[in-house]
Amino acid sequence: MTHHFSYQNDTLCVEGLPLTDIADQYGTPLYVYSRAALTDHYLAYARACEAHQYPDAPAQICYSVKSSATLAILHLLSRLGAGFDIVSGGELARVMAAGADPQKVVYSGVGKTANEIRYALSQDILCFNVESLAELHRINRIAGDMGQVARIAFRVNPDVDPHTHPYISTGLRENKFGIPHEEALSCYRIARDLPHVQIIGIDCHIGSQLLDDAPLVAALHRLIFLCDQLEAEGISLRHLDLGGGLGIAYRDEKTISVGEHIARIYDIVRRWRQTRHQGKPIRLIWEPGRSVSGNAGILLTEIQYEKSNAATRYLIVDAAMNDLLRPAMYEAWHDVLPLVRRVGNPQTYDIVGPICESGDWLAKNRALTVREGDRLAILSAGAYGMSMASHYNTRGKAAEVMVDNGRAHLIRPRETAEDLFATERIVP
Ligand code: LLP
Repeated sequence: MTHHFSYQNDTLCVEGLPLTDIADQYGTPLYVYSRAALTDHYLAYARACEAHQYPDAPAQICYSVKSSATLAILHLLSRLGAGFDIVSGGELARVMAAGADPQKVVYSGVGKTANEIRYALSQDILCFNVESLAELHRINRIAGDMGQVARIAFRVNPDVDPHTHPYISTGLRENKFGIPHEEALSCYRIARDLPHVQIIGIDCHIGSQLLDDAPLVAALHRLIFLCDQLEAEGISLRHLDLGGGLGIAYRDEKTISVGEHIARIYDIVRRWRQTRHQGKPIRLIWEPGRSVSGNAGILLTEIQYEKSNAATRYLIVDAAMNDLLRPAMYEAWHDVLPLVRRVGNPQTYDIVGPICESGDWLAKNRALTVREGDRLAILSAGAYGMSMASHYNTRGKAAEVMVDNGRAHLIRPRETAEDLFATERIVP
């Protein structure tokens, strides 16, 4: 639990505001974000960069939109100076609607369609993180048709093990992401000779929820090795993008401090630039998602029923895997707290949703003193919570609230069933 969400007199509060009041007003399931938490987590990156970056080549923090993409969140971060890491035309439309500066947008993803590339070129984004030669040629062709030059970096797959859940590990040789580092040099040579692309950087992203930055350091050394080879061939790069991936505490994990991590990376980069590039600056780009949004949001839910069988005591709640997929998909742990603490002997429960899947659970084996009608907070739900929500079982998506300075603002109303099928057509 971060200090933005804490108990005051047995009532769980966000920035000092009782969550029971917010749940009374907006109902459950409900995502609640703390503006102060989002701001603090973003500023941890911004301040560390300010302290270490090259003034002539200031760092750019490109918040990873996929982690939590609601407009109010993007708008807040954009006003703080964030750029964005996007992976679809939809995310580009979102960041533009939120007031993003396209010159701070980098576009990753293995499957960019022609329409998406055209749209990104029309918005003049900073850089495409190119993930294959086929994509490079497509970008070159479309940029040529549009009379433009596309700025590109290759996303290099450095083949380092990030020691995280296999589903969120992306920088191993066998993953679908990026180009193998052994092939990077030849890809850059090909790109150099294309008329409608301009090489500006190098990129990688090795995985998410990293609790140790040694794999990121190993990836950095791979990129540095490549940069030197490129430089020797006259291809010099403006930026180096290390992706995102720093983990957060869901339970009691020891995490990497953002400030220390950034200092460590700059230390390596500085020594490298001094020894082999006469101290010439290079710009660093970071793509944090979870470490900004994860512990800035929680999911509120109400206990509908208690139910037991021979093996298990269940709390059936009104939130489900369609609201928060992480437990079902990765067996992820999220702490669960009652909005109001009761006295009494705790019981051990599995907390499950109403969806017709045995995988529809939010937490297992939790000791709680609760009864029907009580409300619970599922913590650390700010990243990959709402952004992975679905309409399964024709369940409208939850409402979302952002708390700012003791006031709750509805940032997305609850969807009604009619919203879900409003655009559908029947066959006459
Ligand atoms: N950059 C790229 C290219 C990415 O693919 C990702 C995340 C990030 C940055 C941000 O990574 P972060 O700082 O959030 O770790 N749904 C999973 C996580 C998937 C991460 C996908 N890529 C989960 O709920 O754990």
